[in-house]
Amino acid sequence: MMNDQARAGAPYLTEEGLRARTGGRELKRVVFGAEAIDVRVREMAAEITEHYDPADDVLVLGLLKGSFIFLSDLVRHIDRPLHLDFIVASSYGAGTTSSGDVKLLYDPTAPIEGRHIILVEDIVDSGNTINRLARALEYRSPASIELCALLHKHIAEDLELEPRWVGFDAPEEFLVGYGLDHAEDFRHLPFVASI
Ligand code: IMP
Ligand code: MG
Repeated sequence: MMNDQARAGAPYLTEEGLRARTGGRELKRVVFGAEAIDVRVREMAAEITEHYDPADDVLVLGLLKGSFIFLSDLVRHIDRPLHLDFIVASSYGAGTTSSGDVKLLYDPTAPIEGRHIILVEDIVDSGNTINRLARALEYRSPASIELCALLHKHIAEDLELEPRWVGFDAPEEFLVGYGLDHAEDFRHLPFVASI
């Protein structure tokens, strides 16, 4: 069943290609296919382009590692000047539930003060990561902070920063692909699937 679905999720992916990428491990279902993601990412980029004044100093901060594919697709469709840097935070280890203990492993070297920050996240789950980062960034006096998330599970209870741009509302399943991992596996799948 998975093979037909995977082909719908990324028509160029052959059965052999999928098996090679997953090492034969079973995925449950394709949740967001590559073409649907592409359409939505272009829409989000257009909305982001619209949102800012031409003179705004925009800094896109990609939250590694999960956002790396989304981020690289997104920025290539934003029609305005911007700078790019990264943040590395970690909360999950090898499990599938948030540990609540968010570590900041890399701090952007780019200055934050007075700039319009767009934080790019793969998925908002418990909200722990975003809450921690929003506080750390606000402390550095940006002109504004907006959150752009590919996926939003809508289960976070005290989110301090609601995403202004969301790609898709995500089901309450553990998702992999298009940058998202399970214990570092499956990041390179061209679609989002549940396991
Ligand atoms: P939060 O701190 O619980 O909101 O989780 C944020 C981070 O956990 C995300 O940036 C992801 O890296 C990871 N995460 C949360 N849910 C999932 C999922 O369903 N699949 C893969 N990673 C996830
Ligand atoms: Mg992760």
